[in-house]
Amino acid sequence: MFARRSAIVPERAGSPNAHSQKTLVLHHGARNYFCMDAHLEQLFDFLRFPSISTDRAYSDHVSACGEWLYTKFTSMGLRADVNGTPGHPIIVARNGHRADRKTVLIYGHYDVQPVDPLNLWDSPPFEPVIRDGRIYARGSTDNKGQILAHIIGVEETLKRDSDLPVNVIFLIEGEEEIGSPNLGAFLQRNREALRCDAIAISDTGMVAPGVPTLTYSLRGIASLEVKVSGPAMDLHSGIYGGAVMNPISALARMLATLHDAEGRVAVPGFYDGVAPLQDWEKESWAKLPLDDNAVWEITGVPELFGEHGYSALERVWARPTIEINGIGGGYQGEGTKTVIPREAFAKLTFRLVPNQRPEQVVEQVRKHLERVSPAAVRVEFSGGHTGEPFFTDPNSAPAKAAQRALVRTFGGEVALIREGGSIPILQAFKDVLGAEILLLGLALPDCRAHSPNENFPVENFAAGIRLNQALLEELSR
Ligand code: BES
Ligand code: ZN
Repeated sequence: MFARRSAIVPERAGSPNAHSQKTLVLHHGARNYFCMDAHLEQLFDFLRFPSISTDRAYSDHVSACGEWLYTKFTSMGLRADVNGTPGHPIIVARNGHRADRKTVLIYGHYDVQPVDPLNLWDSPPFEPVIRDGRIYARGSTDNKGQILAHIIGVEETLKRDSDLPVNVIFLIEGEEEIGSPNLGAFLQRNREALRCDAIAISDTGMVAPGVPTLTYSLRGIASLEVKVSGPAMDLHSGIYGGAVMNPISALARMLATLHDAEGRVAVPGFYDGVAPLQDWEKESWAKLPLDDNAVWEITGVPELFGEHGYSALERVWARPTIEINGIGGGYQGEGTKTVIPREAFAKLTFRLVPNQRPEQVVEQVRKHLERVSPAAVRVEFSGGHTGEPFFTDPNSAPAKAAQRALVRTFGGEVALIREGGSIPILQAFKDVLGAEILLLGLALPDCRAHSPNENFPVENFAAGIRLNQALLEELSR
């Protein structure tokens, strides 16, 4: 196990080592990037939109952010459309296509996750700043910095050559962070116009700074919300405590049965058919410059925890999990309130690996929770977004081209990895467009996606621009 080592504990928000330097001017260390200041200005403009897709209160900001992309694309000489959906718009842009060229679709998202807890940010989430070579803002790494690098790569190539080596289609949606509810139907309706040879996505990670990384598998996702209710109204806990079951206690007991003491999921059937890790994966991952110790340092936990028999990376990348993402009920305000609440709820998500089906897993967990629920409470369920696990061949011809582009950009040897996050639309890309999917991540393990102080290294933004240029060249061959 890993002992606590204070000397190398990573900077924590609010800790004494958390630097308080807050600056709005662009300065990015000793290196002077040609044109980078102009590119960074653009990124800052993009980051200033609070495009939080899950919260209706931000709808206008999400649309405005989509409009910004539309303007950006047209100013580069691309033909662009803002496609309305029942949710947030899908922006599509393309150069002049020629039948004798390969077509590359570049996918990304302009929506972001909510920013709470706001008090843990060292600078406001929608006022981007650079500190120590990193751009701090919500969406900087997931996904605005990564997708804008591709856009600027294309812009620079067009400026230099007045043309691109391939036909390009940008498809940038505003609903990835809520499970892409409208993109599948859009792909179906526009399958001819979106026909392509490869789909390039930078919305994943690299294992360490400067290490070229190709991701060939992502976990799928499914979600379930459980609500436990008892009394018809909140009750005085002195007048009724002892007579009725507290819904929070009932929920806590139920949730505690989801895992055994060692962190293995205890829901019957959950691991049925789960594809085992292959030997070459175990061997090559053990050599990566990212190990359990790094995971321990970045997360700040006293010690790592999870299913026995696997390293932390193996558990995150190739094993399924159940997480409780939120729990609520009862009094949350200051001081005490002697109450038995009428209801309690929990929000659960499941990360799935090849051979698990989202619907089947949701059903297994629902049945399990029903079975362990006490008779003294009522239990209701509601489902949320789902996404199939993704797995592809890292040695296909397009994947080989992607690897060459990665080596041209970063040097060294490509790390072939799986990752634990999900991009739910990938299955629809495969089913509807049938093109090979290339995940060329630019995020670092400590970029804090979805967390306070999300950040993206200026260096990775610059590398992403070069990566786009190398990738389009390699894919054109
Ligand atoms: N960029 C992430 C997906 C990701 C994260 C891939 C880490 C690889 C490593 C994406 O924006 C994301 O956060 N997806 C959500 C999907 C969910 C809300 C349906 C996720 O994984 O939680
Ligand atoms: Zn995300």
